[in-house]
Amino acid sequence: MNKVLLIADKLTKSFASSKTERFCLWHDINIEISEGEAMAICGESGSGKSTLLFALGGLEGVDSGTICFCNQMIYHHSNPYTPGISYIFQHYYLIEELSVLENLLIPVRVMGEKVNAGVKDQAHRLLLELGLEKFSHQLPKTLSGGERQRVAIGRTFMMNPRLILADEPTGSLDEQTSLRVIQMFFSVCQKFKTSFILVTHNENFAMQANKYCRLEQGELKRCK
Ligand SMILES: Nc1ncnc2c1ncn2[C@@H]1O[C@H](COP(=O)(O)OP(=O)(O)OP(=O)(O)O)[C@@H](O)[C@H]1O
Ligand SMILES: [Mg+2]
Repeated sequence: MNKVLLIADKLTKSFASSKTERFCLWHDINIEISEGEAMAICGESGSGKSTLLFALGGLEGVDSGTICFCNQMIYHHSNPYTPGISYIFQHYYLIEELSVLENLLIPVRVMGEKVNAGVKDQAHRLLLELGLEKFSHQLPKTLSGGERQRVAIGRTFMMNPRLILADEPTGSLDEQTSLRVIQMFFSVCQKFKTSFILVTHNENFAMQANKYCRLEQGELKRCK
């Protein structure tokens, strides 16, 4: 049996709605993700999906409940980086002045590590895997939306994450491109045995994950 990677236990989140009142966004959320497991979360706009995803990675605080990742508690704190967790967003956040290859190398440089032959080799393998090798020396502005998102996916994998939190990664793409990008994402995750939690409005994508839940009226309901 695969090792449990992340356990979220009874998470509750509220926001102030006025000076004296609060509204509860979601409550008693329980999530368990094992190594290599994929989970999808759907739900109406405003149901709190992004807030939940960011809470799981420690980017957003919770009112109560605990999150344990790789046997370590995750707290919302000043350093937003939890080793082993990385993100993919709807908007790709590429550095426009840097080539595709250099964008992939950003996490390595930010971590203060050397860009040695092994790192360059890893980047080239990812570019190949994501069908981006011919673009490696181009600037992001010369790429399509789907290609840009694939660069962002490659950059995420350069961090060797154990868990990827993906917030509507195909939200800015047309249907055909979304399908191609999500298939590539699923296949790279499978290849590297990387777990992920995917927030998406597309139920067909959600159904392909091992677990599929809907966030409705503050509760996370299991659909698969
Ligand atoms: N810091 C905050 N203070 C007050 N309310 C907030 C805060 N952050 C988020 N909210 C509210 O929480 C609700 C859920 O927001 P969230 O972004 O998590 O929704 P979502 O399900 O991801 O929606 P979408 O599908 O549109 O991305 C929204 O009504 C939002 O305004
Ligand atoms: Mg959102």
